[in-house]
Amino acid sequence: MTKTVAVIEGDDAAPEAVGPTIELLKSLDLNIEFTYPVVGDVAINDYGSPFPEEAKVLIDDADTTFFGSTSGSSGVALLYLRWGKGTYANVRPTRYFPGAPSALANPEGVDFIIVRENLEDLYLRTEGDLKDLSNLGLISKTSRKPIAELGEGRYAIKAITREGSERVIRFAFELARTRRHELTVTSKYNMLPESDGFFLEIAQELASEYPDVQMNHFIVDDFACRLVANPRQFDVTVMPNLYGDILSDAAAGLVGGLGLAASGCYGKDYAYFESAHGTAPDIVGRNIINPTANLLSAAMMLDYLGYNEASQRLHSAVVAVYADGDSLTPDVGGQASTQGLCDAVRARF
Ligand code: IPM
Ligand code: MN
Repeated sequence: MTKTVAVIEGDDAAPEAVGPTIELLKSLDLNIEFTYPVVGDVAINDYGSPFPEEAKVLIDDADTTFFGSTSGSSGVALLYLRWGKGTYANVRPTRYFPGAPSALANPEGVDFIIVRENLEDLYLRTEGDLKDLSNLGLISKTSRKPIAELGEGRYAIKAITREGSERVIRFAFELARTRRHELTVTSKYNMLPESDGFFLEIAQELASEYPDVQMNHFIVDDFACRLVANPRQFDVTVMPNLYGDILSDAAAGLVGGLGLAASGCYGKDYAYFESAHGTAPDIVGRNIINPTANLLSAAMMLDYLGYNEASQRLHSAVVAVYADGDSLTPDVGGQASTQGLCDAVRARF
């Protein structure tokens, strides 16, 4: 059966990595049809909106979307792919490939996954003026000062809901079952017992349904130290949105940088795939952006679409290119172009 992938190439240097990644997928003859929703500045020009109905329909009609990084007006498509499609679990693997320049003296065997809650926490983006809260009688738990007396300032709402936490923690438990049967939960539950504490409580409730998975937990600052000092101790981890955003970038630094940071965002009935990195505006037009994050995200996508063997072969081909080391982009110590790295992966497929 034909599968359909909607491709949104993204901004700045992102299309330079997405383009050859999609060309590589096309060359595999997998019975995938590609559609190209028009979003961002081009859509403003052609349709008068950065995210026209036509683009939304192509995303909805596709089995999945492959998304390049965004910096500007195409960001509204990302909002739709996350909040519109309910993709609540952002899976961000960190795996060391021999040949990649790691920040660690001994990176061998580093292989863990951050499951980042993808829809809530501070990402509600409900912010405002502190003045607007002054009649609510709120008091700071630490300074005991009424919020009304804090003077000029702004607030942001951090919301941790039962539904949002349960579904992502369940997702992480299920993922743990496919790996080492270990799950680490992290949040700032000591200082924020009502919100981050709730996240941990829900994990502890669910743990009884997964007796075959060993669950442990660390406060997020302690977790960050452990992640850097001894990443091999972790397998599947789960955390609220903002910690996951920050720590997944930090984690990428352990294994060669953002150029390798793949991700997939999964919901109940939709998933989309995107690299975790930004649009690299500093290297636009040079054909040197590292396509690895896109290639690995594409491997995750193939797995999601049911092309499990092709997914594994693509992943192994990337690993082989790093092991050989002669076709790497400058960010990982090589001299190859984006296209050169993709060609090398295709040759080893
Ligand atoms: C990511 C990015 C996004 C985020 C931005 C582009 C909204 O940093 O996917 O990690 O903060 O989630
Ligand atoms: Mn990020």
